[in-house]
Order: sequence, then C-alpha cells, then structure tokens
Amino acid sequence: MSLANKILERDSQVGVIGLGYVGLPLAVTAARSGFPVVGFDVDSNKVEQLARGKSYIDAVSDDALEEARANGMVATRDFAQLTNCQIIVICVPTPLNIQREPDLSYVEETARTISEHIQPDTLVVLESTTYPGTTEEILAPILATSGFDVGGEIYLGFSPEREDPGNIVYDTRSIPKIVAGINEDSSGLVEAFYSRIVDRTVRVSTTQTAEAVKITENIFRSVNIALVNELKLIFDAMDIDIWEVIEGAATKPFGFMPFYPGPGLGGHCIPIDPFYLTWKAREFEVPTRFIELAGEINTHMPYHIVNRLRQVVDENSGQGLRGTEVLLVGVAYKKNVSDMRESPAMKLMQLLEEAGVNVSFIDPHVPEIPPMREYGQFVARHAISPKAITKGRFAAVLIATDHNNIEYAPLLDLGCPVLDTRNVIAKLGLPLDNVTKI
Ligand SMILES: NC(=O)c1ccc[n+]([C@@H]2O[C@H](COP(=O)([O-])OP(=O)(O)OC[C@H]3O[C@@H](n4cnc5c(N)ncnc54)[C@H](O)[C@@H]3O)[C@@H](O)[C@H]2O)c1
Repeated sequence: MSLANKILERDSQVGVIGLGYVGLPLAVTAARSGFPVVGFDVDSNKVEQLARGKSYIDAVSDDALEEARANGMVATRDFAQLTNCQIIVICVPTPLNIQREPDLSYVEETARTISEHIQPDTLVVLESTTYPGTTEEILAPILATSGFDVGGEIYLGFSPEREDPGNIVYDTRSIPKIVAGINEDSSGLVEAFYSRIVDRTVRVSTTQTAEAVKITENIFRSVNIALVNELKLIFDAMDIDIWEVIEGAATKPFGFMPFYPGPGLGGHCIPIDPFYLTWKAREFEVPTRFIELAGEINTHMPYHIVNRLRQVVDENSGQGLRGTEVLLVGVAYKKNVSDMRESPAMKLMQLLEEAGVNVSFIDPHVPEIPPMREYGQFVARHAISPKAITKGRFAAVLIATDHNNIEYAPLLDLGCPVLDTRNVIAKLGLPLDNVTKI
C-alpha cells in the first residue's frame, strides 16, 4: 500500500518527537483520531508520567490522555522505535542562544537521530517555529545522510503549531493547520495526514511560506503589544485610561483589533520567534527596525513597572522600596496557565530584589517556581500561604497575571497600594480607591 493510502486508512504509525506543550496535544489528537502513535522524548520524567497516565500539560486532561493511551498511544525514550514510524513529526524547542540568535541544535540533533533510524516511504514534518528556509536548508541535508533521497524516498514538510495555552475555545483539532511540503508529493502527504486529525488544513505553496506564516503571526502580536505598551505610557502621562481607550476603539466594527498592555512579554513564542526572522534577514541585508523596536519597548516594560511601583510606594509611605516587602500576584506568563517560560513576573522579581525588596508571591497555578532556563535563583521558591497575607505586611501589591481563580477583593484591604498591570480590579467592578493601573 502506498504511504498516501496508508495515511488515508490511518494505517501508518505516527512518531511525535518532543512531548511538550506542542507535541503532547498533537500526539493525543492523532491517537484520538485513530492513528497508532509513539511519542518520543529525551526527558525520562515526562515519559514516566505519561506511562502512569499523568498529564503535565494544562491543555491535555488526564482523561484525554487515558483515551489516547486506550487507543494505543505510548511514550518512550527509545528512538530506535522510529524505524517503525511512517510519519515523524518534530516538536522540539527552538530557543535563542545567549547571543539571542536562533538555536537550532535541538532540531539538528533530532534530525540526526531520525536519519539513523528512518526507512524509505516515510513522511517527516517539522512543527517547531523557525525562520523561513530551515526545513530545506537545515533539515533536508541532515535527513539525506540517511542515504535516502529526500523528496523521492523520504517526504518532508513544515506545518507550524498554533497552540494557544489556556484558550478554551480552540484546541489542536479546531485550529486551522497551515501545511506545506518541499515538493508536490510531500505537500500532498502532509495535507493528507493533517486533514485526518484536524478540522481544516490550509495548504501554502512552499515550506518557506509556511515558516514565514507562523513567524508573521507572532511578529504581528509582538508589534501590536509593543504599540499598546507605548500608548499606555503616553496616555498614562496624560491621565487617560488606556484600558478605556482600547475598549472604546474596539467598538469599531472594522480596521481595529484590540491588544492589551501588560508588564512585558512572556511565553515560549512571542519574546523569541521574532528574532529568528531578524537573524535570517541579515543574510539578505534587509533592516528589521520595526521588529527590533517592538522587542525594545516590550523588554523595557518591567523596568517601567518597577519605576512606577517605586513612585507609588514613595507617595504612599514617604519611604523608598529598600527593605520593604511586595506581594507579587500571579507569576505565570499569562492568565489561567502554569507556564512560566519567559514570564515577565520573573524579571519583576529580579528587579525588585535588586532594589532591596523582599518579594513574596501567590499563584494558584504555580505553588513553587519550577526550573527554568533563566532565573535559577528563584527555583523552588514557594508561594506564601493565604494566612500569611496580612494587613500592614506589604508596601504594595503588584498584580502581574490576572488568573481567574484569585480572590482579588481581600488584596484591596491590606493597607497598601495595589498596582494592577492587567486592569483586572476594574474589570471585576471592585473599588479602585487604592488601585493604580500601570
Ligand atoms: N508552547 C506553545 O504555545 C507553542 C506554540 C506554537 C509553537 N511552538 C513551538 O513549538 C516548538 C516546541 O515548543 P514547546 O512549547 O512544545 O516546547 P516544550 O519545551 O514544552 O517541549 C519540547 C519537548 O522536547 C523535548 N526534547 C528536547 N530535545 C529533544 C530531543 N532531542 N529529542 C526528543 N525530545 C526532545 C523536551 O524534553 C520537551 O519535552 C518550539 O519551536 C516552539 O516555538 C510552541
């Protein structure tokens, strides 16, 4: 049977490499769609948790995982099992290195591993976010070391992930999937596979285009968030409430899309992906001023927040910040998730502690700061218990993340100013007497 027919019959084994925020939901979705799935990860902890039926990703419930396991999904660290996979999807990290340049080492290492085990008539798809050209320029040559003809015997494509952690409306299945292959045969197979597991596929002409689509989506967000962050500073100086301005502007039924200011950018994507494109653009000698400027403005936000906090505390107590205690509310990078990656709350914590402040935090999704690529000094710190949140203890309360399951009203009654970077207090209709929106 041809690979195309095997895919149509769901008679092809799917291997998902990298079982994180992207790979695990994909593996579960493929298994629930009827494909036999093997998930691969180098992290033995994750593999063991999955073997116990325990999900470590908010978007995948234990029940969904159980259903996938009942459909035959397994997780392993044994990459020799790639030999039995006819569809291999790569979902490994694509971070920046310390020089803030693309770090494709995970993708390259994975491609080398695949080359050692791959059989002819296999489709390989990259899902990791990256700059245009990666699939053809980086992945294809490494896969060719398998000795098989890439495009003729091994098929290759790119299909970006659009996962939105915490989004309860869209999931892996219902988010339209951009698909592309390095040639006609590959494109057809990529489309055939994804059309079996998601509601809608959107085929674009080249893998470079598919890579550019994803990076454009993320730059669009980064630039627009930077714009509202800048507008916030301007309107703040004019004593105009940016939140009310956005609410008003958003009533325009065309030509405006609301974005909201915040304490800085967070998550695995928006603070990182734009710099994949700026790096690649240098090869073509094209300036990327707009993207860099957005990065600068967004990076500056935590500094602005700490400066405002200093002013507010000073106005309130006549004293500086040094030696005081501040309660940081919400440390995950966005509401209703536990994901801490690139969370601006960590930068706030660092800046405050550098200013001599003792920072305590609460976050119902993050009882303890997990290991992260940066901010090792905060790892294993615990949230303080609700009983320890007492009147008179704090110089200020700083709301960094507006999780739904936080009791905000008692925070207004601690005898100190409350600084709200998310406008949550006003949105809940609570009294704003000692609240500063920043
Ligand atoms: N998190 C998101 O919301 C999101 C959304 C869209 C795109 N992406 C992109 O998807 C890719 C993966 O991101 P993520 O958020 O799932 O990352 P993640 O860190 O949650 O997961 C990556 C997984 O890959 C594993 N891994 C690392 N090296 C490996 C190797 N050599 N072999 C096998 N497994 C390996 C890690 O142990 C980890 O479990 C990135 O390119 C990211 O930019 C992420």
